[in-house]
Amino acid sequence: MMLHVPGVLTPSQVAEIREALDAADWNDGRETVGAQGAQVKRNRQLPESGPLTQRFGAVILAALETHPLFVSAALPLRYVPPLFNRYEGGEQYGLHVDGAVRGVPGTSLRLRTDLSCTLFLADPGDYDGGELEVLDTYGAHEVKLPAGDLILYPSSSLHRVLPVTRGARVCSFFWLQSLVRDDAQRGMLFELDQTIQRLREQHGDNAELLALTGHYHNLLRMWSEV
Ligand code: NI
Repeated sequence: MMLHVPGVLTPSQVAEIREALDAADWNDGRETVGAQGAQVKRNRQLPESGPLTQRFGAVILAALETHPLFVSAALPLRYVPPLFNRYEGGEQYGLHVDGAVRGVPGTSLRLRTDLSCTLFLADPGDYDGGELEVLDTYGAHEVKLPAGDLILYPSSSLHRVLPVTRGARVCSFFWLQSLVRDDAQRGMLFELDQTIQRLREQHGDNAELLALTGHYHNLLRMWSEV
């Protein structure tokens, strides 16, 4: 499942992050990928353990924790802390698949990457190109979102970032392990939860909604791994 999650960061949070990032020193993005990725990745990244990465990564994770749509769709268990990248002057990231297991820097923790996240930090009008293209069984999906919005997509998908031909594309990107490993099961839980929310808005609480809510939690209990 791919999902556009709007309004993860406020315009003032985006502005604060951009001001700091635009003045920062950037590294070669090939430092954080394996051999296949290094052949096709041309961009820059903030140092993984640098103070800006840690500070703004924490801001993003705190915002996600209280974003009901994101939590409902991702059912996050644990994260690889957010990183930040920048593409300009024709930079791009060719077709690749994200590694299945990643370590959390500075810890012995490792996690399975179920979902990949890209949080846009530049307005689409400020650059040309730079679309995230995700391939699935329905074909290619091109994604370029307003600053502050996030795209959630399965880490199992082939994807790429098209060349940036004007301006700069600045994003945060990260991975998470979900409570529910299977994309189809997670998608069904998301639909059920969203439908329960809409029914509650339309009709208020009643016995049938209580039964459906119980059904949701029992499916989550059946399918989740903690
Ligand atoms: Ni990727």
